[in-house]
Amino acid sequence: MQFIDLLSQKERIRKGLLQRIERILDSGQFVMGPEVTELESQLARWVGTKHCLSCSSGTDALLMPLMAKGIGPGDAVLTTPFTFVATAEVISLVGATPVFLDVRPDTFNIDPELIGHAVEDAVKRGLKPKAIIPVDLFGLPADYTRITAIASAFNLWVLEDACQGFGGSFAGRKAGSFGLVGATSFFPAKPLGCYGDGGAVFTDDDEMEMLMRSIRVHGGGIDKYSNDRIGINGRLDTIQAAVLLEKLAIFDEELETRQRVAESYTRRLKGRVKVPVIGESCRSAWAQYSVLAASSAERDQLTQALQRESVPSMIYYAIPLHLQKAYASLGYRAGDFPISEDLSSRIFSLPMHPYLKEEEIDKICSILLA
Ligand SMILES: Cc1ncc(COP(=O)(O)O)c(C=O)c1O
Repeated sequence: MQFIDLLSQKERIRKGLLQRIERILDSGQFVMGPEVTELESQLARWVGTKHCLSCSSGTDALLMPLMAKGIGPGDAVLTTPFTFVATAEVISLVGATPVFLDVRPDTFNIDPELIGHAVEDAVKRGLKPKAIIPVDLFGLPADYTRITAIASAFNLWVLEDACQGFGGSFAGRKAGSFGLVGATSFFPAKPLGCYGDGGAVFTDDDEMEMLMRSIRVHGGGIDKYSNDRIGINGRLDTIQAAVLLEKLAIFDEELETRQRVAESYTRRLKGRVKVPVIGESCRSAWAQYSVLAASSAERDQLTQALQRESVPSMIYYAIPLHLQKAYASLGYRAGDFPISEDLSSRIFSLPMHPYLKEEEIDKICSILLA
């Protein structure tokens, strides 16, 4: 059994994709070919934003808006410690300081009520709080109604980390469309993934679009040999754009199937482990289906039982970022973010993809229920 099955999906898109790749090979437009612009307009339409710019990874998608806003040394950017390292890494890469705030125990996403406290913490550290990066963890968008209201009261702009959330929605709006900029990843394991690295940013803001377009290709001005600002090599290549165009055509249907898989798990596992809680106005993209055991020892016992039957499971994330060696210099200690630490000790994720068969779900659930 696969944790994420990319091979079944490949069979569905194979014919169309090979035709597209053949066209690209014949055209010789391997970088910034017409597929890239076609993908960007389809993605902007799908998410509902004025602009979409594709780029080379989710990490670069998070980095470009920070560079565009001139975030740097002395600035604080608030974020969650219960996420993949790239969310905080980009803050450090621009020379700013990540200031963490804890998550909610039900959604695993940033607790908006803690933003004020994190702003105070940043100021106490001698930093200027500038922005907040909420993460749509495991595919579930954060609470953007509260986050946006509280962030603007503290003069913070919002950068949505939709690297796992793409495909989800909150209050009728798609993930990627929240905040000043939304950033996503097309890493192969994501709900919408390419066959390598890729990402995209979404915004309604014309100036941000112009700045990020420039930053994406070495800070170029009228052409790439006139350089107006410091940039990166952040392009998405044409073949990856072709992969994403083929996958986007079946994405809505795949999201429905992910939803059915999640409902199937939830129906069976409710009461045995703590199953995900999705609010009324939300839809998860189900990047992961993550559950909580009663204790760390019970998690070991359950994941070992799955392993004995060749069922893969994963732990996202065993060490919250404030306790990672890379962030030791920030001076956080165990106990600073109790919810994230508790989740880290009990969480595990089950196989999740649109091609998971009912009998596979049965097998996984019966091992957990035994
Ligand atoms: C929450 C989150 N942010 C950022 C990233 C970085 O994306 P990429 O691997 O495409 O650089 C990931 C990727 O796993 C992620 O899960």
